[in-house]
Amino acid sequence: MSDEQREETACEERTMTRRELFPLAGKVAIGAAGIAVVSSAGLAFGCGEEEAGNGAATGDEDAEMEHDWPWPYEKLDAAESAALAYTNWYEKFCCYAVASGILVPLQEKIGMPYTHFPVESTKWGHGGAVGWGTLCGTLTGAGIATGLIAGEEGEQILNDVINWYTVTELPTFKPAQPKAEITNSNRSDSPLCHISVGKWMAKENVKFFSDPRKERCARLSADVTTKTIELLNQWIDGTYKPAYPEQAKAHEVQMPAQNNCTECHGDAVPASPGM
Ligand code: HEC
Repeated sequence: MSDEQREETACEERTMTRRELFPLAGKVAIGAAGIAVVSSAGLAFGCGEEEAGNGAATGDEDAEMEHDWPWPYEKLDAAESAALAYTNWYEKFCCYAVASGILVPLQEKIGMPYTHFPVESTKWGHGGAVGWGTLCGTLTGAGIATGLIAGEEGEQILNDVINWYTVTELPTFKPAQPKAEITNSNRSDSPLCHISVGKWMAKENVKFFSDPRKERCARLSADVTTKTIELLNQWIDGTYKPAYPEQAKAHEVQMPAQNNCTECHGDAVPASPGM
């Protein structure tokens, strides 16, 4: 091993150590002070100009934040966020509603790095990804937030949010000033936009492009925001207990699936190929 290689290896190890040293980086208040800690740690380890000096050289402190993930979290008020999500649905729909319901209060409480995240960029999740009826945008929004906030552990949190979504009669949120009245809630048995909203439309007997349907999705956004924040708040308190098992392994077929096999396959649910 050449000296250069050795130094590189040592640096890698130190970088890992540094990350191990700062597992709580995501949990302490980050601001200018947090950035200073991280960058001076990089310098102290002396791991080459590139690593330590990146941001310093350009004078762009934000650049150094790039790889710090997950992001810091402080407990949110679920009711406030739910009200914000409800309002924001009417701005940019479901995915943005949930993402903004969680991330905008964090922009206000914590600032960087949340203030650098253009929350509007999450709008595409509406209608199950620009109207394709796949994953309900509320859940895409929740996943964006849990991913930023809780990293790998965010997957389990999202898993529990999705399971809850499929088995709960929704919506339950009651806005202070409703924009429309709705009568029904429904259990979707699926996280798919198309199936979830379709079942509700059938029950309420309304078209997709109708005021009650919009109201249902706005309220649903508030519900998903509430649930996600409840779990994130438990998680940061250390009381969160993963509830739902890994979905792709939850069935005999061992493949990504929802829990509604018979709705499409009837009684003839196919066996998994190759098994
Ligand atoms: C939304 C409808 C829908 C649901 C719900 C659904 N499937 Fe499917 N599944 C399909 C379609 C469509 C295909 C493709 C069938 C084809 O092309 O022959 C498929 C394919 C499969 C295949 C691949 C092998 C084959 O014979 O096509 C398996 C295995 C399977 N489904 C099992 C399941 C299981 C188990 C569940 C529940 C956990 C489930 N599916 C839920 C619609 C669905």
